[in-house]
Parts: sequence; C-alpha cells; structure tokens
Amino acid sequence: MKEYDLNDTHITKFNPKVQDIALTTNDLHVWYGQNEAIKGVSLEFEKNKITSLIGPSGCGKSTYLRSLNRMNDEIAGTKVTGEIMYEQTNINSKQIDVYEMRKHIGMVFQRPNPFSKSIYGNITFALKQHGLHDKKQLDEIVETSLKQAALWDQVKDNLDKSAHALSGGQQQRLCIARAIALKPDVLLLDEPASALDPISTSKVEETLVNLKENYTIAIVTHNMQQAARISDYTAFFYMGKVLEYDQTAKIFTRPKIQATDDYVSGHFG
Ligand SMILES: Nc1ncnc2c1ncn2[C@@H]1O[C@H](COP(=O)(O)OP(=O)(O)O)[C@@H](O)[C@H]1O
Ligand SMILES: [Mg+2]
Repeated sequence: MKEYDLNDTHITKFNPKVQDIALTTNDLHVWYGQNEAIKGVSLEFEKNKITSLIGPSGCGKSTYLRSLNRMNDEIAGTKVTGEIMYEQTNINSKQIDVYEMRKHIGMVFQRPNPFSKSIYGNITFALKQHGLHDKKQLDEIVETSLKQAALWDQVKDNLDKSAHALSGGQQQRLCIARAIALKPDVLLLDEPASALDPISTSKVEETLVNLKENYTIAIVTHNMQQAARISDYTAFFYMGKVLEYDQTAKIFTRPKIQATDDYVSGHFG
C-alpha cells in the first residue's frame, strides 16, 4: 500500500465572482465520535455547474455531501465544525431552520427510495407538507418536475400508478423529480446511478446535464467515466481531505498530485 502525503494538495481557485458561487465550505470538519471523517475541507461549488466528488471508498465523500444539507445532524454522536456558506448565511449554525434550508439544498440518495405512494403523490407530498394545496399549482409542478427529470413522457398517462411499479432508473428519476419539485438551488446526489443498469445510468446522466441549466449540482460517484462525462469540476478526496480540485478535464488528463493520478488511472494503493 502506497503512502501519500496528505499535505501535498492542489486546490485550484477559479475565483469567479461571489455571485457565481452557490455553496462554499470553509475548513469543514466532521467527527463520528472520535473518528474525524472530514479533516478541514474548503471547497466552492459554482452555480449551474456539476461538481463531482471522487475518491476511494471510506474517504469521506458521503459524509461531506451529507453535511452540505445537514443530514449528518440525524446521526447520533456527529460533530460538524467550520462554515457552510449559502447566500451569505452560515447554514452550519444552530439558528438555522434545517427543514426550510433543505427546500433550497435538496438530496438524492444512492438507492431510489420513492414513497409507497402514486407517482403524483411522491412529487406532491413535500409540497403539501409545506402548505401548498392548490390542485392546479400542484399539477403544474408535477408536470414541470417530471419533464425536467426526463420522465414525463413515460408516466404522464399513469400518474396514479404506484411509484414502485416503475423501473429502477425511472424510480431514481422520480426521486430527482421529487427533489426538484421544491425548486432547490442546489441538488446533492450520492452515487445516484450506482444501483442502475447502463441504460438507466445514461438517462440519469443526461437528466443531470440538462438540469444544470437551473441547478447547481454536487455528485458523489465512484464511476470515473461518469465524472469525466458529466462534471465541470472534480474534487479528489482521500482520507477525509481534498487533495486535488480542478476542472474535470485537468483531473483526468493532467492531475498535479500523484495520488489523483494513481486513482484516476486505476493504479491506486
Ligand atoms: N453513520 C456513520 N457512523 C459512524 N461512522 C461513519 C458513518 N458513516 C460513515 N462513517 C465513517 O466515516 C468515514 C467516511 O465514510 P463515508 O463518508 O461513508 O466515505 P465514502 O462515502 O467516501 O465511502 C469512514 O471511516 C466511515 O466508517
Ligand atoms: Mg459513500
């Protein structure tokens, strides 16, 4: 097993205007009890871009992604320090209404997890919880969300059908539609295609590329080709740190750090 120097990092600052940044973390640390899973990560997520988080299993990608909309709050014994800046507000502060914040920063998980409800019911559930009951408005949001998730044409005549009757790839696109129905600014996805076959995977990828017109996307993926195909920026995580962050093309063709080079070329460890 090769040892890599955790202090040998290369984080490119693209320095776009502040208004071009959707989300920033400053010196973020996450502990599970005594285990420090994230050791000071500072990253910026540019608006209307896709940023991939890659790295070997156990390096903290999911932990970092979950912290971005405070999902780690639900795990007992976690401590998160550092700033997560969203629209001039540090959302990693006790005063934040987490439920409200998650309307702006939504999450899609690894396994498609539709509710045991109809397709229509999946998309309208959270909207109703947030107080929207107008049938015409709900209908409109169902239609636009499903269109944005590239699922509308396949389900428009069967909106009352159970979500569980859909294929895995369709279920995952329904989960994406459910997340975007709340009109978030930022969409976080944790290996959203890892449980899907190649055809469904490419449909989900296509969906994400279309979505970046309206959303800022952060995606964890263990699939190098996927990161290379769809993302604008890539962050390489290793042992709780980001060792390299750059434009995706640079990460995959001319990485600056040995660990990144070994990882993307399949010679890691
Ligand atoms: N819910 C949890 N409780 C305790 N430790 C966890 C939990 N989730 C992850 N970890 C630990 O945090 C570290 C990073 O894990 P994770 O974020 O899942 O990495 P990745 O997504 O890159 O595979 C690992 O050491 C893992 O064991
Ligand atoms: Mg993970």
